[in-house]
Order: sequence, then C-alpha cells, then structure tokens
Amino acid sequence: MDKIIVDGGRRLAGNVVISGAKNAALPILVSSLLTDGKNTYTNVPNLKDIQSTCVLLQNHGARVEAAENCVTIDAGNLSNSEAPYDLVRKMRASILVLGPLIARLKKARVSLPGGCAIGARPINLHLKALASLGAKIELKHGYVEAEADRLIGADIYFDIVTVTGTENIMMAAALADGVTLLRNAAREPEVVALADVLNQMGADIRGAGTSVITITGVEKLCPVSVSIIPDRIEAGTFMVAAALTRGDITLENCEPEHLDALIHKLRLAGARIQVSGKTIRVEGPELISSVDVKTHPYPGFPTDMQAQFMVLMSVASGLSIISETIFENRFIHVGELRRMGADITISGNAAVIRGVPYLSAAPVMASDLRASASLILAGLVAQGQTEVNRVYHLDRGYEAMEKKFEKLGAAVTRVKS
Ligand code: EPZ
Repeated sequence: MDKIIVDGGRRLAGNVVISGAKNAALPILVSSLLTDGKNTYTNVPNLKDIQSTCVLLQNHGARVEAAENCVTIDAGNLSNSEAPYDLVRKMRASILVLGPLIARLKKARVSLPGGCAIGARPINLHLKALASLGAKIELKHGYVEAEADRLIGADIYFDIVTVTGTENIMMAAALADGVTLLRNAAREPEVVALADVLNQMGADIRGAGTSVITITGVEKLCPVSVSIIPDRIEAGTFMVAAALTRGDITLENCEPEHLDALIHKLRLAGARIQVSGKTIRVEGPELISSVDVKTHPYPGFPTDMQAQFMVLMSVASGLSIISETIFENRFIHVGELRRMGADITISGNAAVIRGVPYLSAAPVMASDLRASASLILAGLVAQGQTEVNRVYHLDRGYEAMEKKFEKLGAAVTRVKS
C-alpha cells in the first residue's frame, strides 16, 4: 500500500486547478443506463471511484471508453441487471444503479453496500421510495432484489435528507408513469448537476436545488454530451491548506457559490478570501481564530469538510466545537490528530478542540477519504516528517493530490509500496 510523506512547515502559494466533482460524476455516469446511445462526459476526475463505476457499468453491458478526463458510455445493449457484491463492496455509491436498472430493465439485483468506516449508512430510504414508485423489493442473501413492470409516480417524503437517495429516485422517476414529488430532497450541487443532465436527456425535472423536486415521467431519454461540475470538496481542501500555512493560493475552475458556508467560516477564522468568477483566492492569517462548526446538509457546512476544518482548528488560537450531525462515526481522524499533538476531546457528536501552537509529525493511518486529506493537511503544518499510510483512501476522491500540493510548494511525496 502506498504512503505519502509530508515535510511540514512550508508556506503554500500559487495556483491550483480544481478537478471535476467525484460526487457529481458518479450519479451522472450511472444515468447513462437510462439511455440507449453513446453519452460523452468531460472534466471527469481521474479517480479510483470513477474507474470502479466504469467497471460496474461494463458489468451491466454498457460499452465504456475512458481517456484522460473524458469518458464515453453507450448503454444501448444492457445485458445484466445484477450488481455483484465484489463490485459494490468497493464503492457503496454503486447502489445508484438500482433506480436506473429498474426503470430501464424492469428488474435489478444489487448487493447491499454494507456499512463503512464513517457509519452504518443504510439504504432503507432508497428502498422505501422505490417501493412507493411501485417496485417490488425483497432483501435476500445480502442483495436487493427489485422488479417493476412499470414505475408509477408517487408523492415521496424522505425522513432524512439523503444525497444518493434523492439521486437514485430522481433517475427512477424520470421514466415512470406520471408525476413524482420528492419532499425533503437533498439540495446539494451534485443533485442539481444530475437533474440538469437528466433534463438535457429529455427528462422533466423541476425544483432541483430546493427541498421539493417534481419529476414528470417521460417515455424515453436520449444520450448527451456534458461536462462535470467542479469538485467543491477538493476546492475546500485546498482553501483550508492556504489558511493553515499562512499561504496564498488561487483556485481556478471552481464554483464559489457552492462554497458559501466554508468561505464564511474561513473568513471568521481570519482568512482573506477574494472571489472572482470561477476563481477563489485564499490568503491565510498570521493568527488563526477558533470557530465553531456544525455540519448540515447543503447549503449548510459540508460533512465532507469536517475533518479538514478540524485540522485548522487544532492549531487555532482558542477553543472551538465541531459537531458532526450527518454521520455517526466521522471522528476517526481525531485519534490520529491527537497522536500529532492535537488537543481534541469528543463528547457525543461534538469534538472540542483546544488550539495548540504546533502539531508534531508522526506516522499516521488514513481511515476514509476525507480523513486521509485531513492527515495530509496536518502534515503540512506539523514539525518534522509525517507519514500517511493507506492512501488508497485518498486516491478514491482526490486526483493527483500530492502533485497539486507539490506545485504549491509543499514537500509531499508518494512512496509506492
Ligand atoms: C453522499 O453520501 C456523498 N457520497 C458523501 O460523500 C457525503 O458525505 C454524503 O452524501 C452527505 O453529504 C456521494 O455522493 C457518492 P446520505 P450518501 O444518503 O448519499 C442516512 C465523500 O467523502 N441515510 O446523504 O451515502 C445516512 O446514514 C462521501 O465523498 C439513511 O439513514 O449520504 C447518513 O446518516 C462520504 N438511510 C445520512 O442519511 C438511507 O437510506 C446522510 O446520508 C440513506 C441515508
């Protein structure tokens, strides 16, 4: 397993180009299953999760070609309605094929994704909503077995805001008979991006980005050629890096309005942030101020930025409280940050962080995608050489992160296992 070595203490400066959004690309690539022709996707990030998605779609019979940051998918001849355990266990977002397979093939057998490091992450709300659309759902031997001659529009309320749940049902309802209402729907930019692509395909989806989405089913969806929106979490990670290292980083090709909550909190922490079109310039403060944060569904503070922001607070000048309201076990990085000298106490879903003057380098272990990023960030400001192990987690969601950091002046190198 590869590891990444970080020599701390460098000030980061320069420009970084933000890649396409993993969490937009995954559902958008899967939506190709709804069409019987060749779809072209550009600005696709080159990530392990994208490769896993391409393998999964090929497993269903789609013809997939991937080159650099462009992917084409032709789902004209689907031959298999089963998503096997050995593919789904590698990437839980594989559950996104469930809705499209039922809509297109009238049946699906998809392995239950199981839990992951940050929480149990059930899919009960996906299944309940699909049943509301008329699908017959059974759970057998670790698989979801679903079938429906025809999906019928329904009025659906999500008890909890679920991003992939909203995306799964939006795709299923796009080809259903009649009108589907999704209430308490996720408002994330990635949901809006998927709705935009489905509408380009010929769907009739209104209200994406609000908590009530109306989908009027259509007979057929046609292939498209689209570009993936920028990754707001990658952007946020580099913004925190600038604030951490008293740096001066200009992010290119991002969507500033997707980052309102983080920009607000970074300004409170003392960062100087200038927004201009698709660029964001972040200058880190001499003294980092402590700021409280509570994660919430979009447009609240993103849970996917919680670990990264905690690193910033661990070297801030005071006490801050970070509350994680989305996932029940998303403080795994705290143990590793403590080993680097951070003063963090967990109480329920809240972490109390007392800023310390500096972190000290240590060998640490990545546990999930965003925790890996937080350990790299911690290494940037730690005294000495930090060794981040199990960086395969990082490769799932960040395109060439160490190269981008190196270009900004960081001493970050990957050691191949
Ligand atoms: C998406 O996961 C993202 N992944 C996650 O990003 C992100 O952290 C999460 O949304 C929250 O923003 C992708 O988009 C591929 P949820 P998702 O369904 O859809 C509970 C990353 O690092 N829930 O919005 O799986 C669930 O347990 C990843 O890029 C149910 O109880 O998350 C959680 O507590 C990590 N039943 C809450 O809802 C369900 O049926 C929100 O989960 C579905 C969800």
